[in-house]
Amino acid sequence: MTYLLALDQGTSSSRSILFDRLGNIVCSAQQEFPQYFPQASWVEHQAEEIWQSQLHTIEIVLKRSGITAHQIAALGITNQRETCIVWNRKTGEPIYPAIVWQDRRTAAFCENLREAGHSRLIQEKTGLVIDPYFSASKLRWILDHVPLARQQAQEGQLAFGTVDSWLAYKLSEKKLHVSDVTNASRTMLWNIHSNQWDQELLALLDIPASLLPEVYPSSHLFGTCSLFGHPISIGSIVGDQQAALFGQACFSAGMAKNTYGTGCFLLAHTGDTCQSSQHGLISTSAAQINHTKQFALEGSVFIGGAVVQWLRDQMHFIEQSNEIEKLTAEVPDADGVIFVPAFSGLGAPYWDANAKGAIFGLHRGTTRAHIARAAVEAIAFQTAELLLAMQNDQRGQMKELRVDGGASANNALLQLQADLLGIPVIRPKITETTALGASYLAGISVGLLSNLEECSALWQEDCRFNPAISSEQAKLRLSEWKSAVQRLL
Ligand code: G3P
Repeated sequence: MTYLLALDQGTSSSRSILFDRLGNIVCSAQQEFPQYFPQASWVEHQAEEIWQSQLHTIEIVLKRSGITAHQIAALGITNQRETCIVWNRKTGEPIYPAIVWQDRRTAAFCENLREAGHSRLIQEKTGLVIDPYFSASKLRWILDHVPLARQQAQEGQLAFGTVDSWLAYKLSEKKLHVSDVTNASRTMLWNIHSNQWDQELLALLDIPASLLPEVYPSSHLFGTCSLFGHPISIGSIVGDQQAALFGQACFSAGMAKNTYGTGCFLLAHTGDTCQSSQHGLISTSAAQINHTKQFALEGSVFIGGAVVQWLRDQMHFIEQSNEIEKLTAEVPDADGVIFVPAFSGLGAPYWDANAKGAIFGLHRGTTRAHIARAAVEAIAFQTAELLLAMQNDQRGQMKELRVDGGASANNALLQLQADLLGIPVIRPKITETTALGASYLAGISVGLLSNLEECSALWQEDCRFNPAISSEQAKLRLSEWKSAVQRLL
């Protein structure tokens, strides 16, 4: 038997999942790693801690499963996107902590870019709105603030990468400096039409091209990893949301998925057409198998499951994340409480980097359970706003929404989601679709899987949630949510 190993390096934890060639999970391991909040609105990781946690999960999976490196046909890397790491090419030492995608320190810099009139150029070339979310302003911040960084960059001593590049570098023992189109498309430096680093944007943002990785299709033989006794091919690199789109077998225009991870990310495939949004969404590269360009429309919400993490780590409401479902089930509704978790500003469709979170509607009778319930409801409300924007862009009702990620195990959340959306919400048998997508892409590059049809045939529905309230009731609930959001803008 031959296996595929997916490394899923997320914002809150690193995971390794071993799949058989039919997409069944054989073994998995997960490890959380520390989050650092050195100042208000700053979010950092230690790149070395990311790597060590990832390595540890690989070692656990190999040990627990008894499967050896020579039985693994290929590994796939999928990752939190946009997070910016700069390291010294020779020593391999990062010159600064990883600046995480949720970090807002460059809000003023982005505001200046917008005021200088660059929005249209950037949107046309990259598909993105100007926002601190994307890597470019973070990279620029490092070059401007870390002593000698710009000079060393100009001398070619430094490498920039998103987390995929960093992992490939570590797995290859410093040999590879690579990325794929999906990750590159999140930097705000990559032209999604020409599939190249954009010289005009590099000049505008004053970023030396020598820092940048080589970019390939997502399914590609990037190199090998020899850390586990036998060389394993690195057969895919793909941003986690595009990986989930692939793992959900959303391969053609109009098929959409939502992932409930640290944030929530709704992506609709748009085939080989790059569709631009009039309603606050972004256009992005979807996973590429060969050199044929593929695109998606994306709505990005910055705080999804992270609100549960906040209730656990900051508020000490719960000890374990999985206690949230029980707590919210103690009450039939949030009793008028609306929780807008704008801890990292607001992403789509508002794009307000300076918004802060708030809880509305508290009264003497409000309990922990009401607040917890409002927090979970916020995940569904934010997703509903993304789907509305997408339907407005695509001028039509979507048929269904496939869902995955940690919180997709929460039936009450998915029922509320279907109620608010007015379309069926479908959970597949395997909800680890991010890792699954990366493993499929790796399997294709080594010839273990032959085509998209084969991957489609492996996708299986587990549970379907149909809307159970009227569209008027859904509209009313959404309008209450929207007026709460308006109070933060
Ligand atoms: O764009 C950020 C996204 O890739 C993070 O994903 O799963 O860590 O919330 P996740």
